[in-house]
Amino acid sequence: MKDLRCPLCRQPLLLNSLGLTCENRHQFDRSKEGYFNLLPVQNKHSREPGDAKEQLQARRQFLQAGFFDLLKKRLQTLLSPDIQTLLDIGCGEGYFTHAFAEALPQAQVYGVDIAKAGVRLAAKSAIDKNRNLFAVASSFDLPFADQSMDAVTRIYAPSKDEELWRVIKPEGLLVIVAPAENHLLGLRQRIYAEVRPHESPVVPNGFRLMASERLTDELVIKDKVLCQALLTMTPFAWKLAENVRMQLEAEGLVDQLDFGIYCYQRDN
Ligand SMILES: C[S@@+](CC[C@H](N)C(=O)[O-])C[C@H]1O[C@@H](n2cnc3c(N)ncnc32)[C@H](O)[C@@H]1O
Ligand SMILES: [Zn+2]
Repeated sequence: MKDLRCPLCRQPLLLNSLGLTCENRHQFDRSKEGYFNLLPVQNKHSREPGDAKEQLQARRQFLQAGFFDLLKKRLQTLLSPDIQTLLDIGCGEGYFTHAFAEALPQAQVYGVDIAKAGVRLAAKSAIDKNRNLFAVASSFDLPFADQSMDAVTRIYAPSKDEELWRVIKPEGLLVIVAPAENHLLGLRQRIYAEVRPHESPVVPNGFRLMASERLTDELVIKDKVLCQALLTMTPFAWKLAENVRMQLEAEGLVDQLDFGIYCYQRDN
């Protein structure tokens, strides 16, 4: 495994019984849950960057209830069995990363997120602790070697074109999932007087768009706890008026799921 590189000196990181080490003896211990912290302090711009623990726990509860299963299954079918290395950027609590590891039983599957609470949850429930590694890291400075990844996935998370291009192999795959026009439209209409449509992502520099599709479904949540989970994990939902929030939690919610899936190939 030569996929990881030291976040401090950029030399390869090798796995030993203690954790990860580079030739300059920078050492990164493995946490008890199995993840690595590869985020240098100077890249940590707040005490707890990324999504908050409550948001990540709510996301886990919501995803495990199966509301995004359609998306999970579709993404699994987009991955060719030839993929040997895959990186999931902004992996959160690991729901999709685990699904990728399941779909690619021969591959090394990595997940990184800037939120330690997410990586901790993800690593704890990894399906294979050697083949499925999680690290706290920023998508703007990835601790991976140049051209180490056959595929990178980015589901509702930020990234930097240059870093995507650097870590993906020539002709490698990049999959981006972003909210499409009608995603949670009902909820957004309850908050904004004028709802602005989600825009499709711009083709990242150095990549070609190979295919794109919309995946839509009706979202029906009857359970109060799951309704609360959706509202906690959705970044804009804190703007809901208190009486509207209470009404939704009491009566349940009917809305639309609308995902945009974009597949790109890295240029040579
Ligand atoms: C909406 S969540 C999506 C999580 C996961 N991909 C999923 O779909 O369940 C966005 C994630 O991006 C992470 N994130 C935000 N900024 C990041 C950065 N600079 N580098 C890596 N992850 C980041 C957040 O911590 C959060 O877990
Ligand atoms: Zn080093």
